[in-house]
Amino acid sequence: MSTTLEARQQGQAYPVVVGSSGGRLPGFTQGRDRIALVTCARVLATPHGKRVAASLARAAPLAATVILPDGERGKTLAVLERSATRLLRAGLTRRSLVVALGGGAVTDAAGFLSAVFMRGVDWLAVPTTVLAMVDAALGGKTAVNLPLAKNAVGAFHPPVGVLSDPASLGTLPERELRSGLGEVLKYGLLRPELLPHLAARARAGRVDERTIAACARVKLEIVERDPRERAERKLLNLGHTFGHGVEAAGGFRRWTHGESVAIGLAFAFRLARILGRVGEEEVERVEAALTGAGLPVRVEASAARKARLLMAHDKKRSSAGLLWVLPIRGPRGWAVEWDVVADPTAVGQAAREIGRPG
Ligand code: GLY
Repeated sequence: MSTTLEARQQGQAYPVVVGSSGGRLPGFTQGRDRIALVTCARVLATPHGKRVAASLARAAPLAATVILPDGERGKTLAVLERSATRLLRAGLTRRSLVVALGGGAVTDAAGFLSAVFMRGVDWLAVPTTVLAMVDAALGGKTAVNLPLAKNAVGAFHPPVGVLSDPASLGTLPERELRSGLGEVLKYGLLRPELLPHLAARARAGRVDERTIAACARVKLEIVERDPRERAERKLLNLGHTFGHGVEAAGGFRRWTHGESVAIGLAFAFRLARILGRVGEEEVERVEAALTGAGLPVRVEASAARKARLLMAHDKKRSSAGLLWVLPIRGPRGWAVEWDVVADPTAVGQAAREIGRPG
């Protein structure tokens, strides 16, 4: 069983297959002179990783397997240089294909490698985490980090296809699975009509084909209308402004991306309440969905203060200061708006609330 969605972006269309997708690989490798698999050791050792690597080797001339360091350590300019050198030595050309097999970090890094190698080669995303299936692999944002800021060097480079097989989630460490629920719930907050279903799945810790497809559909619709994040795509950053600050405050180790986003989502609703855009009822509903999924909504006061300072490097900054993605009460519960200016006093108050023991 599988669901195929069609992504349309920047004059290009690509399939997003959610479900068992083993048989789809050869369709992407046909006619390629060489294939490179970019992955990490943990994923390659899983049954799903081994299956994908084996079917790639059967389907095509697999010229190189590039193993990135785990997680964010694989998203550096130094690793990018080493990986590009591997592709060059393996003889990849513009007719080659890069297959990114892994979670959000591998997807971002391999996508960016594909965007810049020979000024752009095709890549296929085979995401193996919830986070990568509902976010990183969709929409063509690719990047590596600078020491000062996450995803600071990147490009829009959509893949030629996305193969999301929920079977790969079976071997995910529990914390990583839960962490992906932060991004899943983000879609429920962007589309409150989806929240009851997504919150129930998140509470049960069950991420299945229907859940992934529901989230992917929301993201693909938004990206189709605004591929380069001039306007509506900014909605996908709900919870990410303060969330990135939290992630950086924890040295990118203490809280995972999804946990940081969960804290950022709680922050966004609290800030909206302080600004009179929503009431306490909405804040409680959102925090109940997040905590029900086992996600954090508070940090220590010192971490909240640090996160607030670290938001200064956020890409969503304008000359007017930080621009927020915030809910506003509406007929369907709430709607979410982008480019909202918030008074620094209100931001400070929201940070203090998040910094109180929950
Ligand atoms: N991760 C947010 C976006 O793709 O726009």
